[in-house]
Amino acid sequence: MDNVIITDVGPRDGLQNQAVHLSPETRLSLIQNLLECGLQRVEVGAFVSPKAVPAMAGTDVITRALANISAQDFQVLIPNAKGYDIALANGAKTMMFVVCASETMNQKNVRMSIEDSINDLAQLYKQAKADGVKLITCIAVAWQCPFEGKTEPRQVWQMAEALQEIGADSLLIADTIGAASPTAVKNLMAPLVKQFGQDNIGCHFHDTRAMGLANVYAAYEAGVRHFDAAIGGLGGCPFAPGATGNVATEDVVQMFQQMGVETNIDLDKLYQVGQQAGTLVKLESGGRGQKFRSLQLEKGNSLNEL
Ligand code: COA
Ligand code: ZN
Repeated sequence: MDNVIITDVGPRDGLQNQAVHLSPETRLSLIQNLLECGLQRVEVGAFVSPKAVPAMAGTDVITRALANISAQDFQVLIPNAKGYDIALANGAKTMMFVVCASETMNQKNVRMSIEDSINDLAQLYKQAKADGVKLITCIAVAWQCPFEGKTEPRQVWQMAEALQEIGADSLLIADTIGAASPTAVKNLMAPLVKQFGQDNIGCHFHDTRAMGLANVYAAYEAGVRHFDAAIGGLGGCPFAPGATGNVATEDVVQMFQQMGVETNIDLDKLYQVGQQAGTLVKLESGGRGQKFRSLQLEKGNSLNEL
C-alpha cells in the first residue's frame, strides 16, 4: 500500500498568529495529544524573535520537554543562524529553515535579503551535518507572494538548484498565502520530486481559496509523499497579509484514508484533538469534514472504519 507522511504544523503555524496566546504547557499537551494520534512528525514551535512572534515564546521550554519525553520526531522552525544555535542548545534535532522565493517577503518575514538567508544556509548545512541535525529548507511563497504577485516556477527551481549546490538535501515547498491551483502545483512539483527524490520533498498548503485539499491531491499525483497540515485548519502568517488557515489535518487524513493511502493516523482521535485545539484558541475548528464526523458519531460509527 502506498503511504504518505503528514507533519502537523498546528502548534507552530496554527498558533503563531492567533489572538489567544497559549502557554508552553498547554501547547505541550496539544503536541502530545497529536503524537498520540499517530502523527509521525509535529512542528512544535519556532525559535524566532519573541518580539516578532509573541505566540511562539516558550518554544525552548517545549523543545526541552520533548527531548526528554518523546522518541517521536518533532521539528522546529528557524529563521536564521541564531535560531539554529538556540534550537540546537535546546535539543532540537530536526529544523525547518525558511527562505522566501520573493525578495520583499523575505525582508518582511526575516529582515534579511534572500542572498543573506542563502549565505546563512551554506554554513548551516555544514554545521547540521556535524551536529547530526536534520535541516529542511522551506521555500515560502512558492506560488504567489502577497507583495510581488505570482512567483514564476523557474524562480523556485533556480532557488532549489542553488540550495542543492550548497548542500540542501530536503525541501518543503510552501504556498504561504494559499494561492496555488492544482495545475500550478503539478507543474512546479513534478521536476522537484525527480530532482530531490520522494523522501526529500514536501508540500505545505493553506486553504485560503478553498483549494488546499485539491492542491494536496495534485502534489500527490506529482509524486509528493510528505505533507504539512494543521489540526483544525488553524494557521496564518503574521507577515503575509491574506493568509488564512492551513489545510486541516483531519481533511487530509480522511482523503488519503478513503483513497486507500496509508497515513497511520487515528482519525477519530484526531477529530477530538481538533476540537481541543479550536476550544483553546476560541475558534470553531475541526476541518471541513466536521459535520460528517458529527453525524457518524451520532450513529456510533468510527471514521477509521468507513
Ligand atoms: N530567535 C530569537 N531571537 C532572535 C533570533 C532568533 N532566531 N534572531 C535574532 N533574535 C534577536 C536578536 O538577538 C535581537 O535581540 P535584542 O533586541 O534583545 O538584542 C533581536 O532579535 C533583533 O535582532 P536582529 O538581528 O536585528 O533581528 P531583526 O529585528 O532584524 O529580526 C528575526 C529578525 C528573524 C529575528 C525576526 O524577524 C523574526 O523572528 N522573524 C520571524 C518570522 C516568522 O516567524 N515568520 C512566520 C513563520 S515563516
Ligand atoms: Zn504556513
